Amino acid sequence: MPKLYSQIREAFDISIAHDGDNGRANLTHFLHCHMNGVSKYFRPEAVKFLDNWYKENQVVPWPAEDFLGIEWDVPFPPVTKAKFSFIDLFAGIGGIRLAYHNLGGRCVFSSEWNKFAKVTYERNFGEVPFGDITSFDEKGIPDHDLLVAGFPCQPFSIAGVSKKAALGRQHGFLDKTQGTLFFDIARILREKRPKAFMLENVKNLLSHDKGKTFAVIAGTLDDLGYSITYKVLDGKHFVPQHRERIFIVGFRSDVAPSNEFEFPQLEGIPKRLIDILEPSPESKYTLTAHLWNYLQGYAAKHKAKGNGFGFGMTDLEGISRTLSARYYKDGSEILIPQAGKGPRRLTPRECARIQGFPDSFQIPVSDTQAYKQFGNSVVVPLVQAVGEKIVKELSRINELCKTQSAVC
Ligand SMILES: C[S@@+](CC[C@H](N)C(=O)[O-])C[C@H]1O[C@@H](n2cnc3c(N)ncnc32)[C@H](O)[C@@H]1O
Repeated sequence: MPKLYSQIREAFDISIAHDGDNGRANLTHFLHCHMNGVSKYFRPEAVKFLDNWYKENQVVPWPAEDFLGIEWDVPFPPVTKAKFSFIDLFAGIGGIRLAYHNLGGRCVFSSEWNKFAKVTYERNFGEVPFGDITSFDEKGIPDHDLLVAGFPCQPFSIAGVSKKAALGRQHGFLDKTQGTLFFDIARILREKRPKAFMLENVKNLLSHDKGKTFAVIAGTLDDLGYSITYKVLDGKHFVPQHRERIFIVGFRSDVAPSNEFEFPQLEGIPKRLIDILEPSPESKYTLTAHLWNYLQGYAAKHKAKGNGFGFGMTDLEGISRTLSARYYKDGSEILIPQAGKGPRRLTPRECARIQGFPDSFQIPVSDTQAYKQFGNSVVVPLVQAVGEKIVKELSRINELCKTQSAVC
């Protein structure tokens, strides 16, 4: 009988990248949610997965319940005595999860469809996220206090809406978001009615399509009975990186008629890039002479034309530009100068650090995947600062729920 989570990981090939497989997601969610009243959501499929596995591999079965006393030998094990529950959508490698884990939250559902991001997520949290959220029935998601999502921004098709209007069909805001990933957030909010949510996105979401996209999002959230507050915040107050993101925070209007949520006041730049650099990075991170010549030539050509493009040779006493998911291509947006030779790119560990991940966060994937994953992720301490305010407001609401006849 397994005693450690890592034994279960090994026995069922959990750490390997699997395409479109929710069996391991059900098994790990079942293990995480034991004792918190929601394991019933995952148990039937977890048992099915185990039965099939035993048959295919001709091994003597362990009853599912035998797994439940396991020790979580992962960097970020499930929180015992959680203060609140949350779900993690478009989870990536779990940057947002880590922030809410640190605040004492227990994650009861996660979804991410990229198989390499799932590998990193599982290695750190001991949970395989479910795949494509667009095909996941919202009724199969456990109840939770808070929904968090760093969702990809996609264009909204206004054409579809006009066609419906032409056909004389009534359409609500939810209809307008159909076919976008925001629609999946909206349908989960409608079904599960968590007390609060936090959505994170690129700053341009505000100006996208002359503000129409944001208006549809805000209108839909209002339609769903949530009162929202939003703000663009910069990660530079926590890490040596300029990274502006929009945070949209909402509270259910019926449980919090007076939304007293306020974003944290952020000031100062506490860290320099030099503070997070590794002392002796491997030589493979130094740009080849060919690539360095190419980048310099490209920048000179654009400068001659009066364009602003250039590589980002970073001032080590200052902060870097924004790390993006394309950093793996040439590293040009953040280059580290080196004495007596060409510059180098950041190592994956340094990318983790400029996003505020602790060094205990494991990086089990190739450099290319790691660059994409950290570039797509969040500044963890910034999310945590926002989350702290949300959790405070949630506690206030919970107190109100105890004393009043609010619909909690
Ligand atoms: C901006 S990233 C979020 C990163 C995350 N906040 C983190 O800290 O790593 C958006 C993620 O959504 C995932 N995604 C996109 N479409 C999806 C879908 N239909 N179902 C599940 N995940 C999806 C992408 O693979 C990507 O990892």
